[in-house]
Amino acid sequence: MIPDMQTLKVIYDTDPGVDDAMALLLLARHKRVDLIGVTTVFGNADIATTTRNALYLKQKLGFSAPVAQGAGAPLVGEPDAPPTFVHGLNGLGDIDLPPISVSADPRPAHQLIIDLVTATPGEVTIIAVGRMTNLERAMREAPEIVGLVKQIVVMGGAFGRNGHTGNVTPVAEANIWGDPDAADIVFGAAWPIAIAGLDVTQATVMSETYVAKLAADAGEDGAFVRAISAFYQNFHRESAGLDGFYVHDSSAVALALHPEFYQTETGAIRVVTEGIAIGQTIIKPDGRNYPPGAWDGRPSQTIAVGVDAVAVLKFYRETLVG
Ligand code: RIB
Ligand code: CA
Repeated sequence: MIPDMQTLKVIYDTDPGVDDAMALLLLARHKRVDLIGVTTVFGNADIATTTRNALYLKQKLGFSAPVAQGAGAPLVGEPDAPPTFVHGLNGLGDIDLPPISVSADPRPAHQLIIDLVTATPGEVTIIAVGRMTNLERAMREAPEIVGLVKQIVVMGGAFGRNGHTGNVTPVAEANIWGDPDAADIVFGAAWPIAIAGLDVTQATVMSETYVAKLAADAGEDGAFVRAISAFYQNFHRESAGLDGFYVHDSSAVALALHPEFYQTETGAIRVVTEGIAIGQTIIKPDGRNYPPGAWDGRPSQTIAVGVDAVAVLKFYRETLVG
């Protein structure tokens, strides 16, 4: 397949988050990305903290896109305690943060999404790497945007391919588990969705050596990646015995820009919204027949099931090193 070389207009829906920050750096530096909006959601930290971090990143990375604050709680119930053991108390690996002199857009995240999508129908790609809460709200308030978005690329879920099933429970991935009701609604709408779940993000690892080389070769950006990822790397070493860390949110960026790096499957997706398997993502592959059931009448979406991890790591490095 010949990759589409067009510029992508991107809204980045995020809960920064160490890996969110690394993916935002990638979007800010990639020549084929026109970053038109950043929207925040609770997740890796509370909503005040993820928004503060997104504003810090706007200031630090120097992009001009507006940052709008989004949801602070899931559709149903209360937010869970933030995973400070993964991303640090400040969500960015506990690096020192300077005073922030840029402010948030006055619109709530869902309104910014609606405004940007309707301004350029058919052109906007939404890269969503946190809970799906803002997307659900945007489509609830302006259902017409479902037909106007070019594509939604998600980091979330786990479909059991390559043995990857869950990271917060044996069957659930954090972004989906954190708001399963919103995810089930978003995946059931007729906009084209491509998903990089744990199936591929846990198959892509940035080693300590890789990060050290990036720090040496990519100037201030490389040093920044090393600084924010130290805490995150430590978590992966202690919890999974990994020399390095999983490439979660940058995988969604890679899937958006380089779908040829991934093998994919298609089918209708459901999210389990209650019980011990809450947050589990289950695909009914196209072409498989079952008796009538909960997947019927849902749109066919795309999931990544295999990855050329070497190509993804090369892509990240080349985008930063130039
Ligand atoms: O499960 C990994 C995902 O959860 C990533 O998006 C990470 O940033 C957290 O939000
Ligand atoms: Ca994230």
